[in-house]
Amino acid sequence: MTTVFSSIADWRYFRKEMLDTETLGVVPTLGGLHEGHFALVRRSLEENDRTVVTVFLNRVQFNKKEDYEKYPANFEEDVAALEAMGVDAVLAPEFDAMYPDNYDFRVSEKNLSNAMEGAHRPGHFDGVLTVVMRLLNIAQADRAYFGQKDYQQLALVEGMVKAFFMPTKIVACPTVRSDTGLALSSRNRRLSKEGLEQAAFFPQILNTSASVTEAISRLKGKGFEVEYVEDRDGRRLAAVVIEGVRLIDNLVPGSLQIDSEVAGRREARL
Ligand code: PAJ
Repeated sequence: MTTVFSSIADWRYFRKEMLDTETLGVVPTLGGLHEGHFALVRRSLEENDRTVVTVFLNRVQFNKKEDYEKYPANFEEDVAALEAMGVDAVLAPEFDAMYPDNYDFRVSEKNLSNAMEGAHRPGHFDGVLTVVMRLLNIAQADRAYFGQKDYQQLALVEGMVKAFFMPTKIVACPTVRSDTGLALSSRNRRLSKEGLEQAAFFPQILNTSASVTEAISRLKGKGFEVEYVEDRDGRRLAAVVIEGVRLIDNLVPGSLQIDSEVAGRREARL
């Protein structure tokens, strides 16, 4: 049975009552759950005696009000799916419970957080790191699961945990994609059928372009607004906008195996 906690004090009691020998995994999310999130949850269920999923639409990490307001969340559906998977607990506090200081205290990183996503979303990573620090302190889990889909976020969380000697182990999980190669994201739900088909070119172009310059020009050619494409540590990271929806992705160029028949059918249609 899944217990839903909105009170942090009640969760802490539950955590205290767990046996010392039992391990706990935590999966932090914004809600609007999909197969990408469920892959993290499954991994946690496999590797730990208990799993808690946090569902908290962290307003302070959204630099655009509209993006926050349009976020496709459905709490009842999320809880039902997690219950079916055998998750022990869902932690879903209100804003005031999570931020008793009204976000006066923040964690901020001075280097990587200013690049790529940080350069285009001012304040975003302060909001992410601050809530992850709080969630990890509240959960007191042995392991915390994060997706490589948000590669810069993952690197910053790993850096924070190391910098502040936090005891939770960060587990990185591979990006879950649709059969077209598009990384699953709650934001994909805001795309039209045509937008969704066009979006499939995003990972394909990142995967097959010889250089950043070539990737940018091919993306523009397919109608994407390009925020950035950067090669770092052997990976290619990028953000684009299509139909007003902002998509991010990252991969090692040449590593993505896409069903060529599906890709071919799509190419023919567009
Ligand atoms: P959210 O976007 O809900 O994602 C929660 C976790 O799921 C993140 O670690 C993210 O990388 C992972 N995830 C999302 N889509 C994925 C996919 N297609 N494949 C693999 N993993 C995927 O990221 C956040 O929430 C927030 O910033 C959060 C860390 C919860 C802090 O508020």
